[in-house]
Amino acid sequence: MVKTMTQANSIPHFGYCDEIVADRMMDLRRDLKKVAEARGIKMTLMPIIIKAISLALKQYPVLNASFDEAKGVMIYKGSHNIGIAMDTPNGLVVPNIKNVQAKSIFDVASDLNRLHAAAVKAAVAREDLSGGTFSLSNIGSIGGTYASPVIVPPEVAIGAIGRIQKLPRFDQEGKVIPVHIFNVSWSADHRVIDGATMANFSNLWKKYLEDPVSMVMDMR
Ligand code: COA
Repeated sequence: MVKTMTQANSIPHFGYCDEIVADRMMDLRRDLKKVAEARGIKMTLMPIIIKAISLALKQYPVLNASFDEAKGVMIYKGSHNIGIAMDTPNGLVVPNIKNVQAKSIFDVASDLNRLHAAAVKAAVAREDLSGGTFSLSNIGSIGGTYASPVIVPPEVAIGAIGRIQKLPRFDQEGKVIPVHIFNVSWSADHRVIDGATMANFSNLWKKYLEDPVSMVMDMR
């Protein structure tokens, strides 16, 4: 962590935050949970969130890239190897789920279960820790709303998810209704990513989560 975060210190980070309505995503998770449980897999919201990131990365591949500072070139990565920050008794570990672009939500959940079980036992394999192309931190599983996540070099972007809360919001008719909301905080390398790209990526990801039918439509 000392080495990685020292390298990250030279990256000019910019942040972008938004709030996501989680009701439909929670309905989807409730239904998937039963199916996954029958297959021996724990299904949380994370596999849905991770798959939506991968679908959005397909449209914005510049965020799934690394920046070679010495040569001044971007290297686009074909694989979406999404690193997940895990809080373990031994501290922070960030294994990555390989090739999310080619996996189902169930496959992602299986990988997340496997990596989390290994992380808790301090037994994550070396290959699971290397080759990440994008990172996500679910700090909301502990608490909190917003964060300022630090990019994991040589990646160019990272996201942090806050805790889901039930909050009052206005509906189309102006009536106050209870809605499940969570916040996302993105950080990106401002040398190579501009704010509009980050915002467009985030909007697409948000649409997938707020309207999971659109996510199913774009899955291969
Ligand atoms: N808001 C509300 N509920 C949440 C949540 C959130 N943001 N994140 C998780 N939960 C819920 C889950 O849905 C699950 O609910 P259930 O008991 O009904 O099944 C429960 O909390 C436990 O989830 P968890 O075991 O944490 O699984 P996960 O897949 O959501 O997250 C990890 C897995 C590894 C990401 C998570 O355990 C973790 O370690 N988070 C901390 C990351 C961290 O340290 N970040 C800082 C990096 S600097």
